Amino acid sequence: MSEHTTTGETTGEPTRRDFLYLTTGMAGAVGAVAVAWPFIDQMRPDASTLALASIEVDVTSLEPGMSMTVKWRGKPVFIRNRTQKEIDDAKGAQVAELKDPVARNANLPPDAQATDVARSAGDGKENWIVMIGTCTHLGCVPLGQAGEYGGWFCPCHGSVYDTAGRIRKGPAPMNLLIPQYAFSSEKKIKIG
Ligand code: FES
Repeated sequence: MSEHTTTGETTGEPTRRDFLYLTTGMAGAVGAVAVAWPFIDQMRPDASTLALASIEVDVTSLEPGMSMTVKWRGKPVFIRNRTQKEIDDAKGAQVAELKDPVARNANLPPDAQATDVARSAGDGKENWIVMIGTCTHLGCVPLGQAGEYGGWFCPCHGSVYDTAGRIRKGPAPMNLLIPQYAFSSEKKIKIG
């Protein structure tokens, strides 16, 4: 036993510890190469990535009072066709009384006020609401047609959004975000 140890040290052969260092070092080098490829690949969007950049949604089946959730860039997007009562309820709130007075609408200037029309698809299409379905608190997906204001309710920590998706109660700091979108035809919405 002692003979073996002496031989290993005097001849300069790698000890077990050296061997571990060597193999770990090699794994690191291989790992670095493996990581580099996907990273470079991500910089060159392929067809499927480009297709996900925007989606077109047919909303023909959405009667007033109905909503749907679609997936866009890995996130849920709520599309809701509001009833006249839901629009009127949202219009009843003054911007000054809102927790977040900013529209958070990517289709408007960043400082646009969170009026009902600014939160909707605009004049003449005020019944339509399109929003990212991620609670601005910690990212849960709120439930639609729920909560004290009949808008959305996040069951994770109790954030309450009104029928324009504006935060009214609970810990969420901001209104639900509105992505870039437009009606590409009477009943089709292009998101992104
Ligand atoms: S994640 Fe929605 S209230 Fe906390």
